[in-house]
Amino acid sequence: MCDQSPDRRRGFVFPGEAMEETARVEKQLQALEAWVLLAIEGAEEPEAVEQIRIRVLGRKGELTEILRGLGAFPPEIRREVGQQANTLKTRIEAALGKRQQVLRVALLEGLAFREAIDITLPGRPIARGSLHPLTATLYEIIEVFQHLGFSVAEGPEVELDYYNFEALNIPKDHPARDMQDTFYVTDDVLLRTHTSPVQIRVMETQPPPVKIVAPGRVYRRDADPTHSPMFHQVEGLLVDHGVSFADLKGTLQAFVDQFFGTGTRVRFRPSFFPFTEPSAEVDIACVMCKGAGCRVCKGSGFLEILGAGMVDPEVFRMVGYDPEITGFAFGLGVERIAMLRYGIDDIRLFFENDLRFLQQFPTL
Ligand code: PHE
Repeated sequence: MCDQSPDRRRGFVFPGEAMEETARVEKQLQALEAWVLLAIEGAEEPEAVEQIRIRVLGRKGELTEILRGLGAFPPEIRREVGQQANTLKTRIEAALGKRQQVLRVALLEGLAFREAIDITLPGRPIARGSLHPLTATLYEIIEVFQHLGFSVAEGPEVELDYYNFEALNIPKDHPARDMQDTFYVTDDVLLRTHTSPVQIRVMETQPPPVKIVAPGRVYRRDADPTHSPMFHQVEGLLVDHGVSFADLKGTLQAFVDQFFGTGTRVRFRPSFFPFTEPSAEVDIACVMCKGAGCRVCKGSGFLEILGAGMVDPEVFRMVGYDPEITGFAFGLGVERIAMLRYGIDDIRLFFENDLRFLQQFPTL
């Protein structure tokens, strides 16, 4: 169309030709108007609208060329046709602007619809963690003893032979060492087989009176449904003047009442530990059958929960205490107590981290 414009053809429109030329340009404008407004309305993308603008109003656009061609017309004609052309230009610009706006709004609405968040949907539940049943049991045991006035002490899990055996009156050739299958690191270093070495460490660093519980992991070469190579104990030690076996019994009965329910029967059986004299193993009435005898307690009606006794004067001598001082000690198996409490029949369940097991203790 541009090669037909008057200026390109001859550079000048003579007055005699003006009528003819005017009619030709007016027809061009009509033809342009006829498609361009419809095309703008029909454009579905901002990019398509922009293409139309370039085609019509761009530097080499159809309307731009027509307007440029008007320069060759005599002034009065130029004014009249020019006005028509400019009016069309204004309308096209308005239509382009409006269409762009409509498309932009539609785009945003579409986006708002697609990305909408339905705030009425129920939220995805965030699973809440809970304490491991062993941890919960351990905390509870400690709390009971804290209420009885005991404070908490700790010692290393990798221990010297001296603290684990020697200072507890278990010399190298002592048969009691066979009672516990020990994991040795070197000849002198081992994984502690019980929490009793903490007794020694505490007494070495403080004079009587002593009133502590020492919770922690212990290790023995043992693995079956009721034994794990790693398990937990809570050691208890009370040293003062005039402590008697009755104090030991009273303390343990108070613990059992708190933990398993008031009136739970406690039974002391004579036993032997090299670091206590006299020594006892302590049972409670079976939590399953309440003492009647069942599969869990193997018909005896009782379940063992700890070892205890009066601290052997030899132990006091080893830590430099006056051997005339008195005290009691006990060592309590945490897994044992947790199994009794929750009716768990296989100790390995504690260590397999099977969520189906752990999720049964959600409130702990
Ligand atoms: N340490 C002993 C054990 O692990 C338990 C115990 C502790 C016994 C304190 C008496 C006194 O078997």
